[in-house]
Amino acid sequence: MTRTSRQTLLRGRILDFHAEPVDETDRDAYSYIEDGAILMADGLIVARGGFDDVAPCAPDATVIDHRPHLLMPGFIDPHIHFPQVQVIASWGAQLLDWLNNYTFPEETRFADPQHCAEMAGHFFDLLTAHGTTTAVAFCSVHKSSADAFFAEAARRNMRMIGGKVMMDRNAPDGLRDTPQTGYDETKSLIAEWHGKGRAYYAITPRFAITSTPEQLELAGALVAEHPDCYLQTHLSENHDEIAFTAELYPDAPDYLGVYEKYGLLGPKALLGHAIHLKPREIDVLADTQSKPVFCPTSNLFLGSGLFDNDGLRARGIENAIATDVGAGTSYSMLHTLNEGYKILQLQGQKQHPLRAFHWITRGNASVLGLEDKIGTLAPGSEADVVVLDPCATPAMALRMARAATLSEELFILQTLGDDRAVAQVYVAGAAMKG
Ligand code: GUN
Ligand code: ZN
Repeated sequence: MTRTSRQTLLRGRILDFHAEPVDETDRDAYSYIEDGAILMADGLIVARGGFDDVAPCAPDATVIDHRPHLLMPGFIDPHIHFPQVQVIASWGAQLLDWLNNYTFPEETRFADPQHCAEMAGHFFDLLTAHGTTTAVAFCSVHKSSADAFFAEAARRNMRMIGGKVMMDRNAPDGLRDTPQTGYDETKSLIAEWHGKGRAYYAITPRFAITSTPEQLELAGALVAEHPDCYLQTHLSENHDEIAFTAELYPDAPDYLGVYEKYGLLGPKALLGHAIHLKPREIDVLADTQSKPVFCPTSNLFLGSGLFDNDGLRARGIENAIATDVGAGTSYSMLHTLNEGYKILQLQGQKQHPLRAFHWITRGNASVLGLEDKIGTLAPGSEADVVVLDPCATPAMALRMARAATLSEELFILQTLGDDRAVAQVYVAGAAMKG
């Protein structure tokens, strides 16, 4: 007996990337098809191309006509804090006061598994509504928060990466582990979740300030024992943070030197912010192929500083772009591009819209080493697709009436768009909106 799987064919304009484009003329770097089709079955993309070429290959497929909308790979947010859904939009502080006054008290609530489960539902609803189909998330210090994060992602069949934060000092009661419990709980979470379904684990020492040398030593042991897991932390976000780190680790040559000493760096290390870097730190980033993560709305909101995208790229350092909610002020990767554009403008740097949309799809996937699974519409990829309406609001529709090129349309989407521009989202082939 042969089993036939149900096929779904999405029709619309389709755009994805094969490499980082220079600009619109760089046609080898991207595919844009006016009357395109994406054929999906069993959670994967089976084929994509012109509608007239793909449709005859799948006469029994259910056709969903999204014309005139734009279909792209689902967005990827490689730095976000799951327990901060009720911290976002907290007034008046820079990093260390913001953590102490707002964030740490809120994260203590995640000791309660019921609260974790409830917030996980909201978290994934928000990601999906904004077109984000993969995220790399910090959970709270409590193992229960990571369990809730992975359980809810599995229920929705979403490709998610996350980890419980390890933090054993400079945090209030109820929000500290110990070097040993941090190690043991991380170990058991990896055994339970890493590689299960679409989940991957990220070993997550929060940042140098909230970990003792003993804890970072054990984080390094975890990295050595689980080289296929990610490592995520924060780096050089704020001047007071950098000065406090230097006090706590007086023997380190600089901030990155702390993580270097404990063996945390490498191609799977994701380093949030990386703003105020010294020349030696940039050398070490390049040598270890560690990945800075630019978080524009957060950097503006906390007044942290300006990320040097061109400078890092000139050194061959591949970076990612992310929301960093709840210091970030939007779940939207479109809005994140909008604010990122302005940060680069302040430094005389220019980001072409095609490069911008590459960044939040294939670019972020490539930083994660996952571009064979997510971030493109290539056959064999997982069927995570976002459907964008560039005329979603009256202001967008009015501006779109004057748009003559794909690049203009993309720039309108990133400058004026948010969740209202996300008409539909498919996760592993299943429609998630309405
Ligand atoms: N550094 C350590 N923890 C955090 C956090 O939760 N948010 C940001 N923006 N920076 C951090
Ligand atoms: Zn962060």
